[in-house]
Amino acid sequence: MSKIKIKYYDGTSDKREVLDEEVPYPEGKLIVSRTDIFGNLTHCNQSFVDMSGFEEDELIGKSHYILRHPDMPRAAFKDLWGTIKAGNKWKGYVKNLRKDGKYYWVYAVVVPNIRKGKVVGYASVRRKPSRTKVNECIALYKTMLAEEQS
Ligand SMILES: Cc1cc2nc3c(=O)[nH]c(=O)nc-3n(C[C@H](O)[C@H](O)[C@H](O)COP(=O)(O)O)c2cc1C
Repeated sequence: MSKIKIKYYDGTSDKREVLDEEVPYPEGKLIVSRTDIFGNLTHCNQSFVDMSGFEEDELIGKSHYILRHPDMPRAAFKDLWGTIKAGNKWKGYVKNLRKDGKYYWVYAVVVPNIRKGKVVGYASVRRKPSRTKVNECIALYKTMLAEEQS
């Protein structure tokens, strides 16, 4: 088993197991999380905990990038943050990395949590993605990633 060094946007990095093995999205479940304005997790539902493979106390207070998969292009998250910081809803397909190195695809809708006109945090609700869209994203993200690395 090999570990891959993953570099995060904030300059930190981590060595994580990355396996080419997909875990299917659980039927009929929504995977929900809430974060503060910096993207640190403040709430995860049981499906989130189960799919991530982490314990709840390993997740709360941590940055959402704990799920970042090295196959995801930076531009996808740049687009996400630009959209939600402006107070808008972001929708997209995300490949997530589990604690055990396996991965799972989600269709995510991320919304800002606005109180008295101010963004006080964010929430993401994920559902089972269409396989056709996932296949399109695999090709698209591969191209985007290659451009980012060139
Ligand atoms: C509410 C919310 C949900 C997020 N969900 C995910 C997620 O499921 N997977 C993921 O990799 N990043 C997610 N992110 C984006 C991360 O904060 C982060 O930008 C991303 O993992 C890429 O890491 P990087 O910005 O350090 O490169 C989410 C952010 C927010 C605000």
